[in-house]
Amino acid sequence: RISYVNGRYVRHAEAAVHIEDRGYQFADGVYEVCEVARGFIVDMKGHLDRLDRSLRELAMDWPLGRKALEVIIREVVARNRVRDGLVYLQVTRGVAPRDFLFPKDTAPSLVVTARKVDPAVGAKRAGTGIKVITVPENRWDRVDVKTVGLLPNVLAKQAARDAGAQEAWFVDTDGMVKEGGSSNAWIVTKDGRLVTRPADHGILRGITRTTLFEVAAKLGLAIEERGFTVAEAKDAREAFISSATTIAMPVVEIDGHVIANGHPGSVVLSLREAFFDVAE
Ligand code: PDD
Repeated sequence: RISYVNGRYVRHAEAAVHIEDRGYQFADGVYEVCEVARGFIVDMKGHLDRLDRSLRELAMDWPLGRKALEVIIREVVARNRVRDGLVYLQVTRGVAPRDFLFPKDTAPSLVVTARKVDPAVGAKRAGTGIKVITVPENRWDRVDVKTVGLLPNVLAKQAARDAGAQEAWFVDTDGMVKEGGSSNAWIVTKDGRLVTRPADHGILRGITRTTLFEVAAKLGLAIEERGFTVAEAKDAREAFISSATTIAMPVVEIDGHVIANGHPGSVVLSLREAFFDVAE
């Protein structure tokens, strides 16, 4: 494997950043994960637009021009011969002696990695669906910024694993579902309408989520962009999650409560199937 680190393509096993990188010390960095499908980097424009927004929200500079970053992403994908898989890119505020204040004249750090993922794994999982647990929201109030500060997400997803589930949904004090540890949350109502929470500062505006709005329009499915409670989700016709790594993935159990008949729903499976006709 080959990875890109601050201007160099290096063997993955030897790829390293300095111990005083602010990403390491302060989680002072942002990232993106893009899916690679049949050799295409899915929705690269959307991901780079969101990266731009994350950087601006944190007053962080682009490590290099957008076109140059696109070239690097394609190069890392090509050098690793990834036809189906993932690209990870991370920008931090750079390497500087540890100090909370922004360093002056410090170049941001850029890391780009890519790896293969067998698409059969996701397809198989979509055939059975996943289980989710709910956990109290304990993250900061700007999770619309895709920072590498993911400790609550790590703990929530590990709690899901320990409970025999695959994702954890953060729930606010009103019982409203916010999003998953690494995905957006959706339900399908009894009358076949898609429901997902508005993308305010309380969730990440998923690139997959945005593309699914287009997929739904193409399939003639109505979307209600509104909050929903755990109780409504448990009683829904279908539930599912979306992300670059899962596309649209059926949820068949929430906190041990079986959704509908316990099998993946037809709406989420039709969204999943039509996704690549719409994604760019
Ligand atoms: N996570 N919400 C959170 C908290 C996420 O971490 C992610 C993605 C999403 C979905 O966004 P998108 O559709 O753009 O992937 C929502 C990535 C996959 C990750 O951290 O691995």
